[in-house]
Amino acid sequence: MPNIPVADTVKNYRFAELVVFVLLVLFVIPIKIGKDYYGDEGCFQKYLQTFNRSYDNETVYQQKLQIFKNSLVTVNLLNTNQTNNKTAKYGITKYSDMHPKEFLQSTLLPNLSTRLKNILPQYFTLDIEEDIDKIKRAAKEFNIPVRLDWREKNAVTQVINQESCSACWAFSSIGMLESLNAIKSGKSTELSVQQVIDCAAYSDGCNGGEICSLLSWLKDSRVKIVKAEEYPLTLRNGKCKNIPSEGVQIKDYECLNFVGSEEVILALIAKNGPVSVAVNALSWQYYVGGVIQFHCDSNPTKLNHAVEIVGYDLTGDVPYYIAKNSWGEDFGEKGYLYLAIGKNICGLAYEVAVVTLV
Ligand SMILES: *[C@@H]1O[C@H](CO)[C@@H](O)[C@H](O)[C@H]1NC(C)=O
Ligand SMILES: *[C@@H]1O[C@H](CO)[C@@H](O)[C@H](O)[C@H]1NC(C)=O
Ligand SMILES: *[C@@H]1O[C@H](CO)[C@@H](O)[C@H](O)[C@H]1NC(C)=O
Ligand SMILES: *[C@@H]1O[C@H](CO)[C@@H](O)[C@H](O)[C@H]1NC(C)=O
Ligand SMILES: *[C@@H]1O[C@H](CO)[C@@H](O)[C@H](O)[C@H]1NC(C)=O
Repeated sequence: MPNIPVADTVKNYRFAELVVFVLLVLFVIPIKIGKDYYGDEGCFQKYLQTFNRSYDNETVYQQKLQIFKNSLVTVNLLNTNQTNNKTAKYGITKYSDMHPKEFLQSTLLPNLSTRLKNILPQYFTLDIEEDIDKIKRAAKEFNIPVRLDWREKNAVTQVINQESCSACWAFSSIGMLESLNAIKSGKSTELSVQQVIDCAAYSDGCNGGEICSLLSWLKDSRVKIVKAEEYPLTLRNGKCKNIPSEGVQIKDYECLNFVGSEEVILALIAKNGPVSVAVNALSWQYYVGGVIQFHCDSNPTKLNHAVEIVGYDLTGDVPYYIAKNSWGEDFGEKGYLYLAIGKNICGLAYEVAVVTLV
């Protein structure tokens, strides 16, 4: 309930309206009016309304309230170090009533780094913070633009909402293939994520997987990815359907570690197209916008998610990548996040997947 200035309101209402008003208040007023109604619990009530949630079970309600209060504390911590007006902002999101452990289990891949350890030979690398001027000079030498957004070139499809299907490895990789295909053919087409969720070997559908294992399977099997409309998204593990059809096929791929040489990532995005990367997205639970520069652990053992990098901008004080996520358009900045260039933020430079199409 909003904090209604009753005295002023009453003055402005005629009697009949006042009756309606009072009735409304009586009916609309939430049943649970805690002692800190205008504090965190009031905030929680508003949260439940805004996000259409209800917890009728008193035990569950109290647990969720406590989690929500803890989220507010975390958000305050994350909002320290606002060094400039582009710094990421954290706040209330659709994940604010989830315990970080629950968020990790339901939305991310807690075991991703175990998978990666066996795949990437140069897995453990020290973090190196790069000099931004060095990166800008390198961009000039590579002769690439200072800013590039493949969305503006009609090479990026709509943001998907993965919901409880933790197939970020499939969403980010298929997103990248859609972009490369659009750049190549001049026509943007949505490709089937469900096809790889159901069919890819070395992967585990909505339970988990990994970008480079998928690319390795796509290359070895020469499978053609069909249009999304031919093999629609169900967000559940299903039986692999064989659809004889034309589709997009990869020619080759590489998974590379660019910690300390992120200028090469920019060159690849500019010269080849979007890339797909593994990240640690634990703190993204609270992300509402801006460029993530701090508070995102880049330890390689913490990688737990994958996104498509669809562009970058080197023009401002805080150069950044543009990352397309798969948590719906109601997350972050219309489904996107911005990540600082040059500090392996969130571990994004450990595993960069680059693909060419047949
Ligand atoms: C909540 O439900 C209303 C009415 O159905 C809808 O308009 C609104 O978009 C929903 N909000 C969220 C966050 O889903
Ligand atoms: C409320 O939820 C708790 C925990 O999930 C459960 O143990 C309990 O039985 C539920 N109570 C009711 C009345 O449903
Ligand atoms: C943000 O800061 C930059 C330079 O530090 C300045 O040019 C710009 O106008 C600022 N933008 C806003 C919205 O305050
Ligand atoms: C994740 O790894 C832990 C320990 O390495 C293991 O116990 C657990 O079963 C794994 N979970 C999944 C979903 O593979
Ligand atoms: C806060 O910003 C400073 C200056 O940019 C940086 O050195 C420091 O590591 C940041 N702190 C955290 C907790 O990230």
